[in-house]
Amino acid sequence: MQAKQHLKVVLWILMVELAASTAVDSFIFKNGFTGSNLSLDGIATITKNGVLKLTDETKQKTGHAIYPRPFHFIQPSTGKAFSFSTTFVFAMIPQTSEYNGHGMTFFISPTMNFSTAMASQWLGLFNVSNNGDSSNHIVAVELDTIQNAEYDIDENHVGIDINSLKSNTSHYAGYFDDLNGEFHNMSLSSGELMQVWVDYDGGEMMLNVTISPVQMVKPKRSLLSLVVNLSSILLDPMYVGFSSSTGTLVASHNLLGWSFKMNGMTEALDLSSLPLLHEVVPNEKEKQKYLTIWLPVVVSIVLLLGISAAIFMVIRRIKFAKLLEDWELQYGPHRFSYKALITATNGFKDKNLLGVGGFGRVYKGVLPKCKTEVAVKLVSRESKQGMREFVTEIVTLGRLRHRNLVQLLGYCRHEGKLLLVYDYMPNTSLDKFLHYQSKTALNWAQRFHIIKGVASGLEYLHEEWEQVVIHRDIKSSNVLLDSELNGRLGDFGLARLCNHNTDPQTTQVAGTMGYIAPELSRTGRATTLTDVFAFGVFLLEVACGRRPIDPKSQADHQIILVDWVLENWRRGTILDSIDQRLGDEYIVDEIELVLELGLICSHPLATSRPSMRQVVQYLNGDAPLPPLSLASLSFRVSPLQQNEGLDKSAVSYPISGTASFALASECPSEVVAEPYSSQGFLCRAQTIS
Ligand SMILES: *[C@@H]1O[C@H](CO)[C@@H](O)[C@H](O)[C@H]1NC(C)=O
Ligand SMILES: *[C@@H]1O[C@H](CO)[C@@H](O)[C@H](O)[C@H]1NC(C)=O
Ligand SMILES: *[C@@H]1O[C@H](CO)[C@@H](O)[C@H](O)[C@H]1NC(C)=O
Ligand SMILES: *[C@@H]1O[C@H](CO)[C@@H](O)[C@H](O)[C@H]1NC(C)=O
Repeated sequence: MQAKQHLKVVLWILMVELAASTAVDSFIFKNGFTGSNLSLDGIATITKNGVLKLTDETKQKTGHAIYPRPFHFIQPSTGKAFSFSTTFVFAMIPQTSEYNGHGMTFFISPTMNFSTAMASQWLGLFNVSNNGDSSNHIVAVELDTIQNAEYDIDENHVGIDINSLKSNTSHYAGYFDDLNGEFHNMSLSSGELMQVWVDYDGGEMMLNVTISPVQMVKPKRSLLSLVVNLSSILLDPMYVGFSSSTGTLVASHNLLGWSFKMNGMTEALDLSSLPLLHEVVPNEKEKQKYLTIWLPVVVSIVLLLGISAAIFMVIRRIKFAKLLEDWELQYGPHRFSYKALITATNGFKDKNLLGVGGFGRVYKGVLPKCKTEVAVKLVSRESKQGMREFVTEIVTLGRLRHRNLVQLLGYCRHEGKLLLVYDYMPNTSLDKFLHYQSKTALNWAQRFHIIKGVASGLEYLHEEWEQVVIHRDIKSSNVLLDSELNGRLGDFGLARLCNHNTDPQTTQVAGTMGYIAPELSRTGRATTLTDVFAFGVFLLEVACGRRPIDPKSQADHQIILVDWVLENWRRGTILDSIDQRLGDEYIVDEIELVLELGLICSHPLATSRPSMRQVVQYLNGDAPLPPLSLASLSFRVSPLQQNEGLDKSAVSYPISGTASFALASECPSEVVAEPYSSQGFLCRAQTIS
């Protein structure tokens, strides 16, 4: 008999537990509270938009919203409290910007009856006699926006309240950054949407409260954590809800979404489906006015505007008709409309002309929408053949990002013309500063800074990007200077791509006389080491202020810059090579480093040249420069001779003065001009391979 009774009890407990764990112990209000079943009292209402407004701006009132069905928070067999989690989105809008309202709470309470709870600092939760009373059995999270001297730390805090408005723990409102753990303040009554998470872990007896701006994902570290044995506080069953109050100072306290779940993580709120905070519904009288007076006026204006816009669009379409090819669609973001570029450059007016190259003109422009300054290069191309490959490569290279590269922003194709859009560089190109008398000479610190920048840009192209980018035309006129005189490599938009660890399969010879490595003129194969050669010549050019090949040179009758520096080095007078305009204002170690590195980089044997990574290390002083020896530099062939056998039409020849000049009388179709220098140009020839 005893045993039977016992079994019955056990069965009964099992069934209750089963019921407790299988009941649908969760709810979610994700599209606002319209039509919801919440029990409201005081001045709480639900707006037309579906926002739950706990208080409006009436003084000395309370408002409550309580979920109508109670939940079992206590496990009957063990007496332990279950885990639960809840999240809600709120906004507090004070009546005036100077004074906040009182605040609000999320609570768990054994009763739905708050008729004796008081307004103002009591938050509609307790009254003057029961505050702090353990018979309340209330657990709450307060969002408190007025400091009460008796029990508040400040006028903008979050607290965990157990039976009392004197919080067990509280903290200035804000969140801890996931990245660096830094604390960011939040102003509860800013009127912004904010989200709160309240999670209780029954096993650990840990109550966590987290708050963040609504746009953020839940911060990993919670604002408040309190170890509390809720089973000694909560009764069974309990209601969940919100309370709020106004005093002499008032604010509207609004809830836009709420979800709750026993024994698990509550469902996330989808912020895009929350209701609008502010009603946009005019009252009846105004509605009438709109309908009778304004509606006809508005309708006719809209109609008129619509028709003229349509006509305008049709005319514009016809004017700027442009055939979009399928493959171009996928390059959407990089493709500019011809119209935008016409607007940007004032219709390619001469006033906007920055420079003229052999095969392209470069204009300054301001993009209409974002007001960004750009340089637009107009390249004429006869044949449409190869356009697709060409554009693919340009778009790929448009993804390169480095502060020492001129950013290629995109392109536009229009009636056989190709337009390339680059970042605008206010200080034009470096060669102007080096070789033109009209520009002030750069001092050594500026030159060294530019050299290091270009080296770092080239290192990125060679070693740090997903593919190896061979620039093929390093020279001073392709180094542009931004507003802070940082050196930026241009024209890489027309460089060659190949994969890491594969031989480049270049079939075009390109370059500028004086910068072309000997093996490049023999094999026609551009490699990273042919770039290093050109970079070496560039180093000497910057330090000496002389062109790589200068037919008018008086210095020791040496036309070739590299040979002249080498000769000075052999005589032990390498510092004789430096630009006279530098005066005495330079650091000997740095300028010697640059000159010697220039010689090493422009070594005739490709295998003796360093990689760009090593070059950057030498320039930054992270590695010592290997000593130059006579033997290693003993055989130097004049670059002019090296270039024999090279198809002359593939080489451009920079000469003094402003005019462009090509050796070729007739240029092949694969010809493009460099971004925007007005002298010298790059010419590419298809060599038969
Ligand atoms: C509203 O709440 C009552 C009381 O808990 C319940 O009986 C009813 O089914 C609920 N209605 C809806 C639509 O949720
Ligand atoms: C405070 O609230 C308690 C519990 O509801 C009630 O018994 C008491 O009468 C209230 N006191 C005052 C002063 O309103
Ligand atoms: C955050 O608020 C506290 C309290 O007012 C203040 O002491 C602190 O300087 C604020 N921090 C920031 C970053 O605004
Ligand atoms: C939690 O409180 C309950 C009821 O007061 C008690 O039975 C239980 O031992 C407490 N648990 C712990 C771990 O203190």
